[in-house]
Amino acid sequence: MTMIELAFAKPVENLTFAYISDAHIQHIRGAKFVNNRDRGLVRAVAETNLTTPKPDIVTFGGDLAQLGTRAELDHGAEMLGRLNGKVHCVMGEHDYYDGPGEYWSKLFGPQYYSFDHKGVHFVVLSSILTYDDWTFNRWPTPQQRMLEKAGLDNPNGSPFMVGDKQRDWLRKELAKVKKDTPIVVFSHSPLQKINKGWNFWTEDAEQVQGLLAPFDKVNVIYGRVHQIQYDQIGNISFNSVMATAWPWPYPQRYAQAEQYLPKATIPMNRADPFFERDATGWQMIDVNSGRVALSSNLDNNKSRTVAFDPNAGHPGDKQLQSIALEPNRTQY
Ligand SMILES: [Fe+2]
Repeated sequence: MTMIELAFAKPVENLTFAYISDAHIQHIRGAKFVNNRDRGLVRAVAETNLTTPKPDIVTFGGDLAQLGTRAELDHGAEMLGRLNGKVHCVMGEHDYYDGPGEYWSKLFGPQYYSFDHKGVHFVVLSSILTYDDWTFNRWPTPQQRMLEKAGLDNPNGSPFMVGDKQRDWLRKELAKVKKDTPIVVFSHSPLQKINKGWNFWTEDAEQVQGLLAPFDKVNVIYGRVHQIQYDQIGNISFNSVMATAWPWPYPQRYAQAEQYLPKATIPMNRADPFFERDATGWQMIDVNSGRVALSSNLDNNKSRTVAFDPNAGHPGDKQLQSIALEPNRTQY
């Protein structure tokens, strides 16, 4: 769960929004669902309803379901229905590839859209699309397609992308927005290239970043990775949010191929893989400055704060250790 605070000088008003992601509700049979996944989402919904101040906006960041079935989406929708107020939903790949996306849209509406709230322009993207040939011709059944997409490191997978059609829409959409209007983008996959093997990756990330680059303050909030990551690329600040389902380990420990965590990210202490709620909890993201500022309050972990250090020119965590940014890291 994540609370995100936006504090601006007028005419933009302060606002907060809550962001819950990656519940992976999984159907077993009949009325049975994987209990731990249900409990993670139920807890997030209850805690979100209790937060003060009451969030202006509540978002669910994708992967509501595990295999995208109607039973999973219905059950997840029922739980999300207990949130106070309207919920803005983001499409995850686990919600999409059975349909693809049809039943999800019936429940939650359009797969990409925008809205304005208190002077901030919000954009919701469906970043988990891939090549039409892979989606529509490759697999004998929708269920097979879903299973191939649901695997974390399946070599039969195909990279996520926003795609031409949606980027065209985004270009036209952003043409109407003033350059000093704060922009917040919700996407399921990171709109940057982190790890291709695990699809912590968006194939056309640079093109999307290019559309966002002319604006003064842009924050991209994403799910998918089930771990805390943050980064700053020019004026675009990136924050991942944790999953209510389970934490993923960091990819570099398991792969030989070249890949990395976002350079600004300081790895969390992930000492107890047998503790089911390890690396889940609350993040508070302050996007007032347009730069990364993140406080984490995780079960079984020390509370930590990472904030943009103007002298160093990058985010830092003073409570822990000096961060070893690579010398070729020049985009701050
Ligand atoms: Fe997920």
